[in-house]
Amino acid sequence: MTKLTLNEDAVHELLAHADDDEQSTSVYWNEHKNLFDVQSDGTIIGNSVLGNASTKRSFLRDAAHYLLQYPLKKWARQYRTLGQCEKLGRKIAKRTGRQFTYDFLRHVFTLALIQQHRPEKTTVGNTLVIEDGFGTMASLILGHSPDTRVIIVNLTKSLTLDLIYLKRAYPSIGMALVKSDEEMDLALLDTAIRVIAVQADHCDVLYRAPIHLAVNIVSMQEMDLPVVEKYFHILRSNPAKTTSFYCCNRRVKISNFDEYPMGFLKIVSANGVNITIVINGHLFANDPMGIKQLCTDLWI
Ligand SMILES: C[S@@+](CC[C@H](N)C(=O)[O-])C[C@H]1O[C@@H](n2cnc3c(N)ncnc32)[C@H](O)[C@@H]1O
Repeated sequence: MTKLTLNEDAVHELLAHADDDEQSTSVYWNEHKNLFDVQSDGTIIGNSVLGNASTKRSFLRDAAHYLLQYPLKKWARQYRTLGQCEKLGRKIAKRTGRQFTYDFLRHVFTLALIQQHRPEKTTVGNTLVIEDGFGTMASLILGHSPDTRVIIVNLTKSLTLDLIYLKRAYPSIGMALVKSDEEMDLALLDTAIRVIAVQADHCDVLYRAPIHLAVNIVSMQEMDLPVVEKYFHILRSNPAKTTSFYCCNRRVKISNFDEYPMGFLKIVSANGVNITIVINGHLFANDPMGIKQLCTDLWI
C-alpha cells in the first residue's frame, strides 16, 4: 500500500539525499550546491546563493532595514493589498526568526502584484512554486488562505530548507514528500496536506496535479533549457482549466529567456532583465520593480 513520507520524516529523507547527484542540476547549481550544507535545524554552513535569510535582529537592525526599504515601496504602492501582504511577510519573518530583508520585501511585492490581477483566485486551488528560497513565496501564499495548497519543486538541498522554514512558519501544517504518481494522487486527496514537496528529478509527478497558479522568481535563468522546457510542458499539460504563471527572470544567464518555449504566451513586460508572462489569458501587468528587483540586496 502507498504510504506518504510526511513532515519531519520528509525533511530527514531529503537531508539524507542532499548531496546526491541530480540530473536536473545545471552546471551553475552543481558548483553552487557543493559550497553549502544544510543542517536539520535549518542552519547553513558555507556560502549559499539562495538569498538573504539573515537571523540578525535587534532594534537598530530592524529599524535600519525598515528605513532603507521605505523608498523601495514606491515601486509597489499601486497594489491595493501591499500593506496586508507586508504585514503577513513581517509576521512570517518574525515566526521563522528571520530579518525582514529586502529579499523578503520583493517576495511581498510579488504576492501583492499577483493579488492585484487575481484578487479572488490567488488563494484557492493549487499553487506550484517552481523553486523557492527558504520557503518564502510558499509561506506567503499559504498565509493568505486556509484553502490553498502549495506544491514546491526544487533541488533536494534547497527543498530541505524550504520545508524546514515552512514548518517554522506553520508548525502544525501537513507536508508530504512525493516521488511517484500514486503518492501524488494520495497527497492531492488528503486535505490535511497543504505542502507537497517534489524533488526536481521527480518533476514528472507534477503532471498529475491541477495547477491554478505557478510562480517562478529568478531561478529558471539558472536552469538548463531542457529543464525549463519541461516545466513549461507541465504547466501546459496540467489538468486545471486555467493556469496563471508569474515568471520573473534574467534575460540571459544559464538559460536564455528568448529560447523559453513561449508559444502562444503573451510577454507583458520585457525590459531587458525582468519578464512577466501569462498563460491561458490571465494577464499580469508590467512589473514596476523592473531591473531594480534584481539589484544587490541590502545587507546589514
Ligand atoms: C537564486 S535561487 C532563487 C530563490 C528565490 N526564488 C528568490 O527569489 O530569492 C534559485 C533557486 O532555483 C533552484 N533550482 C535550481 N535548479 C532547479 C531545478 N532544476 N528545478 C527546480 N529548482 C531549481 C535552486 O535550488 C534555488 O532554490
